[in-house]
Parts: sequence; C-alpha cells; structure tokens
Amino acid sequence: MHAIDSPIAFFDSGVGGLPYLEAARRLLPAERFVYLADRAGFPYGTKAADEVRERAVSAVRALVAKTGPKAVVIACNTATELAVDAVRDDNPGLIVVGTVPAIKPAAALSRARRIGVVATEAAVAADYLTGLAKAWAADCELVRIGDATLVEFVERRLLGSSLDERLRAVAPSVGAMLDRGVDAIVLGCTHFLHLSEEFAAVAGPGVAIVDSRDGVAARLASRLTEEGLLRTYDGRGAGGSPDRLFLTGPGDPGPVYGGFAERFGLSWAGCLP
Ligand code: DGL
Repeated sequence: MHAIDSPIAFFDSGVGGLPYLEAARRLLPAERFVYLADRAGFPYGTKAADEVRERAVSAVRALVAKTGPKAVVIACNTATELAVDAVRDDNPGLIVVGTVPAIKPAAALSRARRIGVVATEAAVAADYLTGLAKAWAADCELVRIGDATLVEFVERRLLGSSLDERLRAVAPSVGAMLDRGVDAIVLGCTHFLHLSEEFAAVAGPGVAIVDSRDGVAARLASRLTEEGLLRTYDGRGAGGSPDRLFLTGPGDPGPVYGGFAERFGLSWAGCLP
C-alpha cells in the first residue's frame, strides 16, 4: 500500500538528479520529495552493466526501506538504461519512472537530421539507446559522445567554478558534435543539466539543447494520477518538514553535497548502506 501522503523518491549516482527534482517540484508543488545520491557507487558511467544494476537495485531498496515512497524516479540515464527492469522487478506494485535520453523531441527539432547525444560511456554504448534511436529517429544520424570527465567535473567541481571553467568543461564534447554537423544536442546524462546554459552558449543559437526533465516530471504526474496518488495543490505548497537528502557510504555531506543540498532546498537526513 502506498499512501497519497508518502514522499516521492529521486535517485541518481550523484547530484545529476537534482535538476529533475526541481522540475518535478515545479509541476507538483503539493508533493514531498526525498533524494538519494549513491555517493559510494559514483560514477556509474564507467562501470560494467552488472555492477550498475547491482548498485541501482540495492540503493533503491535502501531508499524505499527508509522512506516508504509512493513513487521512485530513477533520475539517471545510465541506471535507467541498464537497470530499470531490475529495479521494477525488485519493487512490485511501486511506480518506477525512468529517465532516458530525449531522442524523440530532438528528432522533432533537427533539420539537419543529425543529433548529438552526450552521456556517460555506459549510456552511449547501451542497446537501449540504439532502440530509442530506431524508434524515434530512424532517419537521423546519431552522434554519440561519452564524457566521463564532464560527469566528474559536475559532481566534484561545479560548485565554486567560474563561468570560464564551465564553458571550457563542455567545449570538447560540443566541439566534437558540431564537427559532425549536429543541430540538436541531447543532454543524455542528468549531471549535464547543471550545465545546460553553458552547452547552449558554446553550441550557439543554431543548435537546440534538449533534455528530458519536463517529460520525466509529466510522466511522474500521469502515473500518480493513474494510481490515484497525486496530491492536490491548494495554493499553500507541501508544508511540513523540508525535502530530505540521503547519501550512501559513511560520512557527513561535506562542502560539496552540503552545497548542493542548500542550493536545492534539501535537508541532510543521513547515510544509507
Ligand atoms: N547521472 C548519470 C546519468 O544520467 C550518471 C553519472 C555517472 O554516475 O557516471 O547517466
């Protein structure tokens, strides 16, 4: 049984899911949220598929046991592409919403019929992405770029970085995609949404920067509605205690996770195994 007043749980390997949480809050202001960053398992994108699957299943299991959510959002493309079925199997009856690269909207926008996808190495190599491309962009060339350095930059060095450092961080991937003639770039790693303005600035006005945050929030809202679990907004917001941040692995959040928690209005709630 999942009660309507239970929180909605967001999960990522790190801080990438936070822009997704923000989009869901905008759409669903009456809801309460909890967020888990799998700090001890970060990064997912350079790990083998089996390891990502094990980490994602066990992190979501711990989060569900601790917070009893009415829905889980896997705010991570890599974990979704490699582990969404395993997470669903492990949580029968629970709403599980995944995040996949926004190939469909990018295909609708691209006049050149060339789409860039920048993501983790594991996500760009996954069969799931090939399936998405076949289904939604069969007449487009897909330029796949894996950028583990940029994931690391966002997780460890984004806070306190200068604009110039951020622009330089996105430049190699953007350059590689522009060289191949893309006119739409899909941010296929949730971490990269923290840099969407920098992607747009470096790519220039002729290139659409596409992500899936609004689509994921809309999908979450429609699944909650279908199950009769959506809280109605009465104009007063969710009220009560603030949304909570959990981390895997021992130790307090430190300046990085503490800084992200502050920026996204989360209160530190403790470590999960
Ligand atoms: N944020 C993740 C994604 O969307 C993965 C980052 C990582 O852990 O490598 O794929």
